[in-house]
Amino acid sequence: MSRSTPGQQPVLVLGIETSCDETGIALYDSGRGLLAHALHSQVALHADYGGVVPELASRDHIRRVLPLTRQVLHQGGAALADLDAVAYTAGPGLAGALLVGAGVGTSLAHALGIPAIGVHHLEGHLLSPLLADPAPQFPFVALLVSGGHTQLMRVGGVGDYVLLGETLDDAAGEAFDKSAKLLGLGYPGGPAIAALAASGRAGRFPLPRPMLRSDNLDFSFSGLKTAVLTAVRDLPPEPQARADLAAELQAAIVDVLVGKAIAAIEQTGLTRLVVAGGVGANQQLRLQLTAAAQRCGCTVFYPPFEFCTDNGAMIAFAGALRLQQGDVLPPAAQGFSVRPRWDLASLRRA
Ligand code: KG4
Ligand code: ZN
Repeated sequence: MSRSTPGQQPVLVLGIETSCDETGIALYDSGRGLLAHALHSQVALHADYGGVVPELASRDHIRRVLPLTRQVLHQGGAALADLDAVAYTAGPGLAGALLVGAGVGTSLAHALGIPAIGVHHLEGHLLSPLLADPAPQFPFVALLVSGGHTQLMRVGGVGDYVLLGETLDDAAGEAFDKSAKLLGLGYPGGPAIAALAASGRAGRFPLPRPMLRSDNLDFSFSGLKTAVLTAVRDLPPEPQARADLAAELQAAIVDVLVGKAIAAIEQTGLTRLVVAGGVGANQQLRLQLTAAAQRCGCTVFYPPFEFCTDNGAMIAFAGALRLQQGDVLPPAAQGFSVRPRWDLASLRRA
């Protein structure tokens, strides 16, 4: 879908995402939309370890990033010389993994004499629902739910992000991942819990809904993991018990996310809610959130499924928006750095 305003020159941006365990590359044209994208997931590489091994992640990004870039340029029918900028994820994320995308992205941009744009990973997630049709209009409330973050933001426009609430400890995705480990399921835990929960019934092994009734928009999920640990210890041996516990865990996380998202809508008086990040792929969350939002006259927007989890398209897209705002440094002034820790609310409009 086109994101160029009338009279604005369309821009062609290559996006590179390497912040964690997915190498994502994409080519976005602000006039013609997303031209091509490719993803290599490292899930199989890390499966034996029950989580992402940073050093293995970095090495695999090195192997994948150039072949995937060639593939995406070919599929998008573009040459390097056609690019107006290269966007890469500059943080937050794993330092070594980020450095691969930053190194390749910056070198490519320098060689071509075009801007390199260091994109905030969460800004990429936050803006990814704008890749869908229909796209939400600003302002909106965003529920950002990934493996590392759980935040509610008020989004007034590109670069206008006000933090409304966030997790005080574990992220929602982390609660899925850690509980999945306790249940003997593989990584990533979210899809594994969701699959097991499909044949289970919530309510048999009650779990808490942490901070659901607190008078702020913050979250806390670490207690849930401890409650799962206790429940797993006392679990009857039959397979149905594991499915029922998975269903209860999913229901507990979804209840809290839905309750807080609706509270944020009521508090801000906005009528649009955007869900982004890997946990946004959860079908139960989508069902419950859409139903609750309808009841309070609010519309919910989701990114296309494939762009919920980490991907290059959201980075190319955020890079293109930044480029069109003139929010990039000239090539000569560009340093080369990554920010493994980076507060999204510290971003400013150009
Ligand atoms: O956004 P993302 O791909 O990476 C980060 O930036 O963290 O999110 C990954 C997280 C993981 O915790 C994974 O378990 C969770 O998203 N996830 C899900 C689902 N798909 C991925 N959680 C619940 N249900 C899903 N279907
Ligand atoms: Zn992510």
